[in-house]
Amino acid sequence: MSKKAILEVDGKRYEFPVLIGTENEIAIDIKALRGVTNGITTLDPGFKNTSSCESAITFLDGEKGILRYRGYSIEELADKSDFLEVAYLLIFGELPTEEQKLKFHRDIQKTSLVDEDIKKILDGFPKSAHPMGVLSALTSALTAFNPKSVNVESEEDMYRAICKILGKFPVLVAWAYRKEEGLPLAYGDNSLGYVENFIKMMFELPNEEYKMNPVVVDALDKLLILHADHEQNCSTSTVRVVGSSHAGLFASISAGISALWGPLHGGANQAVIEMLEAIKEDGGDYQKYIAKAKDKNDPFRLMGFGHRVYKNFDPRANIIKVAAEEVLADLGIDDPVLDIARGLAKEALSDEYFKSRNLYPNVDFYSGIIYRALGIPVPMFTAMFALGRLPGWIAQWKEMRLRKEPISRPRQLYIGETLRPFKSFEER
Ligand code: SDX
Repeated sequence: MSKKAILEVDGKRYEFPVLIGTENEIAIDIKALRGVTNGITTLDPGFKNTSSCESAITFLDGEKGILRYRGYSIEELADKSDFLEVAYLLIFGELPTEEQKLKFHRDIQKTSLVDEDIKKILDGFPKSAHPMGVLSALTSALTAFNPKSVNVESEEDMYRAICKILGKFPVLVAWAYRKEEGLPLAYGDNSLGYVENFIKMMFELPNEEYKMNPVVVDALDKLLILHADHEQNCSTSTVRVVGSSHAGLFASISAGISALWGPLHGGANQAVIEMLEAIKEDGGDYQKYIAKAKDKNDPFRLMGFGHRVYKNFDPRANIIKVAAEEVLADLGIDDPVLDIARGLAKEALSDEYFKSRNLYPNVDFYSGIIYRALGIPVPMFTAMFALGRLPGWIAQWKEMRLRKEPISRPRQLYIGETLRPFKSFEER
């Protein structure tokens, strides 16, 4: 394989190095392009063809439906690991020993109390505020209570900041939920596991003992693993871009939460359930919605379908589909929306429009059905995605800072007005 790429513009030839990754992906290194060509850039809206960085954290193969965290397959991790262990793997690069995992959990617990003054900010929100807006604001506010920005050169400082955000974020997610439900804010219980503690903070009632359901714990733990990282997706790229200006870890994650909120990204899990509910209200006529999704004059999209990278199946969707059926059976729930989801997916997957565009169910298509079965209200679905994605955001931010990546500052192709003289009112 020639290690050079040739570009010819106006009869001039330019050579660029070709890089080959550990999974044999190929990238043309155009770092020198603008300099050697006296100003030529590339244009790639949405960065569909552009690698923004080299990364050693997560590998995706969209054609083969492969997802691996630090070389471990998502199928094995979902089956054999737990969320705290996967968080350690993503952030530090290796699966923890038993004592490393215990210490990690203990260090997270020690920093999990949120300053009581954060409640004053939370009180300022209306009950109707969307949890993602609350979470982005409260996460950014954490910076005010932890003003010393992370010294990335200090392993200890970095570790402390990582434990802080992993400890406090679940509290903020639970508080955002309890604020919406009008429940007193809870502090959790350090005798519990990481995910169990979160569930208790979310659902415990002040007037009765909370009974933990292992089916709910396992299902949520698996969902969080499946959402933990996904290479350079929109919200992770946002965390890296904001962090590249040397903004702090909490501020960068707050920006990532806002990016995840969008219905084309993490907000899709809420949009999927709203779509399935609309179909149910509409008599279950999913053919009508498939026709709308295919109609170019109709902005409606089949939410939970399609993916920028997976042009075959999304391995996470396959795992979540099986988990959804198991959880509903274990909890004895017969959710007609799952039947609609199954029928809709079957119909779409046999339809030329979706097949020709490689549109398959993605991670968001079935996850909402499980969240709903676990008693999580729809507006909290994307907040659950954020809780899952937190370790990935941390890992990617840390990698970007430790690799001393330059500040992100793309160029553009200007297509506006050329130079023109100022006009007085009379001339306008
Ligand atoms: C996530 O990037 C990640 O890794 C994200 C994520 C993660 O873990 O971080 O996996 C999480 O965000 C999953 C995706 C959740 N979003 C949705 O489910 C929203 C619905 N899907 C889309 O809007 C869309 O598929 C995207 C945004 C996911 C991907 O869009 P692309 O890659 O930019 O593709 P595109 O918009 O250029 O569409 C290509 C064609 C178009 O038709 P043509 O112009 O070629 O005729 O496919 C059509 C689109 O109109 N199309 C759809 C469709 N998705 C794409 N048509 C109907 N329904 C859809 N869902």
